[in-house]
Amino acid sequence: MRSCSGIVWLVLAFSWQIAVAQPQQAPRTDPTEVVALNTILGRWGLKASPEWNISGELCSGFASDGTDWDYRPDITPFIKCVCSYDNNTVCHVTRLRVTKLDVVGQIPSELQNLTYLVDLYGI
Ligand SMILES: *[C@@H]1O[C@H](CO)[C@@H](O)[C@H](O)[C@H]1NC(C)=O
Ligand SMILES: *[C@@H]1O[C@H](CO)[C@@H](O)[C@H](O)[C@H]1NC(C)=O
Ligand SMILES: *[C@@H]1O[C@H](CO)[C@@H](O)[C@H](O)[C@H]1NC(C)=O
Repeated sequence: MRSCSGIVWLVLAFSWQIAVAQPQQAPRTDPTEVVALNTILGRWGLKASPEWNISGELCSGFASDGTDWDYRPDITPFIKCVCSYDNNTVCHVTRLRVTKLDVVGQIPSELQNLTYLVDLYGI
């Protein structure tokens, strides 16, 4: 009877996976933009603050909710995303705010991969 209970266990595990996969997936940040943004901020020696990039997802927390970034000048670097692409499954980074943009000297070439960026803001 050992193999029989093994099959039951398999079926149970499988149906659990389906049940988890069914609900609306949280939208994910465009992977090209993830690489670009992590590279850019890494080169500038900047890290995301705890208010966003929650568990490694760049477009999360304040970055993807309705918070107007003008009301959170304390968060820097900061991004805003629009997550309604591909039926609300894909987020694109639309705004990037960084401090000390003046010390950068040169705009990183990775910036060209943030193709949805409409706003680059240095303080
Ligand atoms: C976002 O989080 C991931 C995982 O913790 C990390 O590897 C990455 O460097 C973070 N990005 C930024 C910009 O801080
Ligand atoms: C978009 O998502 C909704 C809700 O998950 C779904 O009912 C609909 O079929 C999807 N539309 C497309 C074009 O994928
Ligand atoms: C832009 O993204 C493409 C595809 O992911 C990658 O091959 C390329 O190296 C990126 N360019 C820069 C400047 O990071």
